[in-house]
Amino acid sequence: MKIVLGSDHAGYQLKRVIMEHLERKGIDYEDVGTGNSVDAASYVPYGRAVARAIQKKEADFGIVICGTGLGISMTVNKYKGIRGALCCNEYMGRMARQHNDANVLALGGRVIGSALALSIVDAFLDEPFESGGRHQVRVNEIIETEEENFKA
Ligand code: RB5
Repeated sequence: MKIVLGSDHAGYQLKRVIMEHLERKGIDYEDVGTGNSVDAASYVPYGRAVARAIQKKEADFGIVICGTGLGISMTVNKYKGIRGALCCNEYMGRMARQHNDANVLALGGRVIGSALALSIVDAFLDEPFESGGRHQVRVNEIIETEEENFKA
């Protein structure tokens, strides 16, 4: 499994914690930036880079972090095939995979603490999608909605 991570300055510290956690778990990852928490940086380019990496299948899942998780989740969700889920507890992290087949996890670095964030990351990465049932139908509907939008 490979993870691609991106954040703005407000998500940088939490991103570091998550990367150390992935390292301890032996999970391969790539950080597309930003590279520090000092220089104020827009979350948009980093959300874009993560979304594109998932589209190109360079990684299995993305993790994006800004102060609230809002701006960067909005950014990744502009991309076809990206299902980004902003999660603030473990249950949401698990359900984002099980019911929504999310491929990008968004977190708010100024909203949740490190321990909670790591439990959300673990829940997200460990949970399989419940394919073939009613949730598959709903995810297919999301995909159809995306196609309709592209036609409009
Ligand atoms: C940066 O101050 C902050 O606006 C950003 O990290 C994010 O929370 C936006 O959605």
